Amino acid sequence: MASKRVRVGPVLDVEVGWPVLLAVTWLWLTWKTLRLVGRVAWWAVRNPAKTVVLTVGLAVWARWGLPGLAVAGVVGVGVPVAVLLVVARDRFTRRLADGARSVWRRWVVYAPRWRRLMSRHGLFVRDDGTEELAALREVRCTGVVDRLRVGIPTGLAPADFEQAAEALAHAVKAEDCRVRVSRPGEVWVDLLRRDPLRETVPPLPVPRVVDLRGVPVGCREDGELWRLRLLGTHVLIAGATGAGKGSVLWSLIRGLAPAIRSGLVELWVIDPKGGMELSFGEPLFTRFADTSPADFADLLDQAVEGMNARAARLKGKTRQHTPTPGDPFRLIIIDELASLTALVGDRRVAVRIDDALGHLLTKGRAVGYTVVGALQDPSKDVIPYRNLFPTRVALRLDEPTQVDMVLGDGARDRGAYCDRIPHALPGVGYVKLDGVREPFRVRAAYLTDEDIRALAAEYAPGRALTPADIPPALPAGFEGPPAEAA
Ligand SMILES: Nc1ncnc2c1ncn2[C@@H]1O[C@H](COP(=O)(O)OP(=O)(O)OP(=O)(O)O)[C@@H](O)[C@H]1O
Ligand SMILES: [Mg+2]
Repeated sequence: MASKRVRVGPVLDVEVGWPVLLAVTWLWLTWKTLRLVGRVAWWAVRNPAKTVVLTVGLAVWARWGLPGLAVAGVVGVGVPVAVLLVVARDRFTRRLADGARSVWRRWVVYAPRWRRLMSRHGLFVRDDGTEELAALREVRCTGVVDRLRVGIPTGLAPADFEQAAEALAHAVKAEDCRVRVSRPGEVWVDLLRRDPLRETVPPLPVPRVVDLRGVPVGCREDGELWRLRLLGTHVLIAGATGAGKGSVLWSLIRGLAPAIRSGLVELWVIDPKGGMELSFGEPLFTRFADTSPADFADLLDQAVEGMNARAARLKGKTRQHTPTPGDPFRLIIIDELASLTALVGDRRVAVRIDDALGHLLTKGRAVGYTVVGALQDPSKDVIPYRNLFPTRVALRLDEPTQVDMVLGDGARDRGAYCDRIPHALPGVGYVKLDGVREPFRVRAAYLTDEDIRALAAEYAPGRALTPADIPPALPAGFEGPPAEAA
């Protein structure tokens, strides 16, 4: 027995001696062992907390045996739990409930029916008689949504999941299903069990410190606060009549209130509906125009003048203006943008408005001049400046085609069904969040006329500045959002 015949498939068929065979086997085992050690080390580096707990656990076990390990376990788990119960009871119990719910729903609701769910919706690939299903990797549940992290089998794409979303929602009796790319090869499938946006969102608490990088305006469908960025961007709010554009504007104003009072933020407001929508808040506004197009043009021209003067002052010194009471952030709010740009009868005034708006939208972002415009019909001929608004909010719209006009190509296919928002849910809409490809559903908080009057009475500009009104410093290197942030 000096040699052995080795055949590997059709390629290799040789006679080798035992020493060679042993050497190859030894090399193979060494390679496997090294790889295992490497993997464990890599896991330890990526999970430092777990590594520390495991190492301490092993050391305690080696030193004091099983009883010692049991005592350490009780102390190690009991003490942090007790501390968390004292300092962050609500958050902790919610997390605990969510964790238990996630485990339960993963193993009781999703795992048993996963094969059927995937094969019925075509989320598998068949290859050489074998079948590879989309893989359920993680389930995270909250009171309102089940978020499934799913591995995409080679051969499928996120679009296949987006296509199956509606059917998947019906299959698991969810209100809605949204698909988001988590990373290459993986998607989050969000199944909405209960619509958290069904109830009117009451006015949010006025923030103590105003942060122009995220002003709270309402609620997101995942239960988080919906914040709208104002610094370094312009915001377009589109929605059919009665869709709730006013509630977005008022929530935004409420979120800015302390900074308005202290003079860090000025509101320059145009209400072409003759003050129907915004005149309640007049005490909060530094400039207000609600009568003739000539007034609107004057207001915008003055804004452009101020903006140009500021740009000249800041040139070469900074790339993003920092508001101070002497040099405030100016928010130009325009309700019914279309009446300004398309429906003005006087040609000369229309040209002035067009010019001023064009200047503000192209140059205002970096120098602290932000335009927030509301609009009923987003079609191209009504608003030629649509693309100059990096941040956009789409409320209920009449036509499916209008959705992509507001949120960008493909937004509706990715789940922004603005045309399906019921009339009974004003203030509900879709937004694109920074760095997230798929649109998020949101609902603006609703302020009654009384709320608005009370806000105007309490926060009219002119009060002395307190330290709480000064916004936190911007992180180093901050230059505003990328142009395509919306
Ligand atoms: N966020 C909201 N939550 C609950 N109800 C709302 C909300 N926003 C608006 N509503 C209700 O819907 C009605 C219409 O809203 P709003 O006037 O803001 O619509 P709009 O989009 O500004 O319409 P238009 O283009 O005609 O001015 C409001 O009077 C209010 O009753
Ligand atoms: Mg309105």
